[in-house]
Amino acid sequence: MPETPFEPKIVAFLCRWCAGAGADLAGTSRIAYPANAVPIRVNCSGRVEPEWVMEAFRSGADGVFIGGCHPGDCHYVSGNYKTRRRIYLLKKLLAEMGIEPERVRLEWVSATEGAKYARVMKEFVAELKRLGPLHLEREEKTMPASPVLPRVGS
Ligand code: FES
Repeated sequence: MPETPFEPKIVAFLCRWCAGAGADLAGTSRIAYPANAVPIRVNCSGRVEPEWVMEAFRSGADGVFIGGCHPGDCHYVSGNYKTRRRIYLLKKLLAEMGIEPERVRLEWVSATEGAKYARVMKEFVAELKRLGPLHLEREEKTMPASPVLPRVGS
């Protein structure tokens, strides 16, 4: 029996003002993109805690996508700047833990960029297929239950 091809599971935290609306636009414009992501709307990408990303991995995600407003466009002024710094630190932590930092992708997507949302989602799925499934069992022993990252700027 042929093996089922690997389809990565993605949790996508989408700012409702921009990336979430961009994802909707991709859908209403009938732009095809892989349906691997479970979207979770947040009010701002700056609301996404590193612990949420780790919880997504612990819950079986192979990748986590964070979509926010472009720099300068955040509805809460500086939320996305905090996101950028947090994700930078989180990726360093992931690398220390033996988890490929490429499993976390941060993108700025405006409400008018449905085509961009579709493109970056396709790219992310392709990247995760290249990386293969995330097997946390082997890392779990060294993974803290709730890593504490410095709260940058908040
Ligand atoms: Fe969209 Fe802050 S409101 S990233």
